[in-house]
Amino acid sequence: MKVDVLLGLQWGDEGKGKIVDVLTPKYDIIARFQGGPNAGHTIEFDGKKFVLHTIPSGIFNKETINVIGNGVIIDPFVLKKELAKLHEGGIEVRENLLVSRKAHLILPTHRLLDAVSEYSKWKDKIGSTLKGISPAYTDKVSRNGMRIGDLESDEFEKRYLQARERHLNTIRQYEIDYLEMEFDGLRFPEYETAWLEALDVLRKLKKVNSEYYLNNALNAGKSILAEGAQGTLLDIDFGSYPFVTSSNTITAGVCSGLGIAPSKVGRVFGIFKAYCTRVGSGPFPTELQDEDGNLLRDLGNEYGSTTGRPRRCGWLDLPALKYAIMLNGVTELMMMKADVLNDFNELKVAINYRYNGKLTEEIPFESVTLDMEPVLETLKGWNQKVKVSKGYDELPVELKDYVTFIEESVGVPITIVSVGPDRTETIFK
Ligand code: GDP
Ligand code: IMO
Ligand code: MG
Repeated sequence: MKVDVLLGLQWGDEGKGKIVDVLTPKYDIIARFQGGPNAGHTIEFDGKKFVLHTIPSGIFNKETINVIGNGVIIDPFVLKKELAKLHEGGIEVRENLLVSRKAHLILPTHRLLDAVSEYSKWKDKIGSTLKGISPAYTDKVSRNGMRIGDLESDEFEKRYLQARERHLNTIRQYEIDYLEMEFDGLRFPEYETAWLEALDVLRKLKKVNSEYYLNNALNAGKSILAEGAQGTLLDIDFGSYPFVTSSNTITAGVCSGLGIAPSKVGRVFGIFKAYCTRVGSGPFPTELQDEDGNLLRDLGNEYGSTTGRPRRCGWLDLPALKYAIMLNGVTELMMMKADVLNDFNELKVAINYRYNGKLTEEIPFESVTLDMEPVLETLKGWNQKVKVSKGYDELPVELKDYVTFIEESVGVPITIVSVGPDRTETIFK
C-alpha cells in the first residue's frame, strides 16, 4: 500500500477539512504531517459545524485512526479546547487519536515571541496567526525544541523552565509588558497556568513512534491519507518568502513529517478554490479590491476559520496553480466552492503574468517586490444555483466548460466539484 496525500494548492483554506472528511470512509488512517494550530479545518454535516486545528479531519468516523505526525507542532491549550468542542458536539475521542512522540510542543513563550516579532515588524508584518508557529519551528531547527515524548521524562519541568527563560530573555529586549499580553482572552500568567494544566490532557492521549506505526500499517495493507495544512503558496521554501508559514506544506513534507519514503507516496489530491483567497500579507497577483472582491468575500463567507480575519479575494490564478501541481506531483484535482461563483455573469482567470515588459507563466524570485500584472481571460458564468442532486453531467454547461478549461490548461483531471460546505454538497465526476 501507498500513502495518498491531500493538500491545498493555494494560500490555505481551500476546503481540505471538508474533503478529508468526505474521503475518510475509504481510509484506515488519516495523518497530519505538518503545521499546527495555525490551521483551521472546517467540517459540516447533519447541521453541525466543527473547526479542527490540530486533530486530523478523519476524527468523525469511529473506525478511522487519526495520527498527529512528527512534523506537526502541538499547543496543548488549543488541543484541550478542540477536544472539549468535539465532546460538546457528541464526538468522543480517545482510542482513535494517536500522537507522535517526535511532534514538537508550542510553549506559551513561543506565542509571546510570535506576537513581539509581528509587532516589531510593523507594516512589514507577515500577518501570522499568532499561534507561535515560527518560534516553535525555529526551536525545532535550532535543536532547542521540546517534544511530546519529553512529557514522559523527569527532566521535563527543568527543560521547560530553561526554554521559558531563554525566550523571556529575548522578549525583555522589546519595550513590551509581556505579562499584560493576552492569548485567547487570558493574560499571559493565566494563559501559562492554563497551558500547564492542559499538559495533562496530552499525557492521557495515546503516544506512538508514528514512523514505525505508519510503516507497519502500510506493510499490513492498511490505507493511509496524509492531510496537509496551509497551502503550497505558503510553503517555507516555495511560497512568497518571507510571507509564508514555517513548514513544508508540499508533498515532500509528507516524507519528513510522517517518516514515509518517497517511493511510498501514492495518489496526490490537490485542492483548490474556484477562485483565490489569501489571509495575511504577501503578493496576490489576481487580488480584487473592488465590488467583485467584496462579492466573493460575502458569498464565500471568506473570514478566517482560525483568526476570523477577512480573507483577501481574487480570481483563479492558473500559473500559480500549475506551479503548485508541479511541486506536489498532483494526480487529481478537486475544485472547491464553485457555488460561490453562482451569481457572476462573467468569470476571469489569470493565464499569464506580465512584468518587466515580459509575458510569462513563471513566478519570479522577486515576486514580493515586483508588480506582477495578471493577464486575464474572461469566461462565461453559469449564473444560476447548482443542484448537487443532479450529478456532474446535469451541471450547467458553463460550469462544465469552466472545469474543462482548467483541466486543459493544467493537464490534470478534476475529480470532485464542491458546491457547498456540507459533506453532502460534493459532486464526483
Ligand atoms: P481548510 O483550512 O482548507 O480546511 O478550509 P477552511 O475550513 O479554513 O475554509 C473553507 C471554508 O469554506 C469553510 O468555512 C468550509 O465550511 C467552506 N466550504 C468548503 N467547501 C465549500 C464549498 O464547496 N462551498 C462553500 N460555499 N463553502 C465551502
Ligand atoms: P489552513 O490549514 C490560511 C498564513 C497566515 C500568515 C502566514 C504565516 O486552515 O489552510 P503562521 O501563523 O503560520 O506563522 O502564519 O500563513 N496561514 C494560513 N492561511 N490557512 C491556513 O491554514 C494558514 N496557516 C497559516 O495567515 O499569512
Ligand atoms: Mg483553514
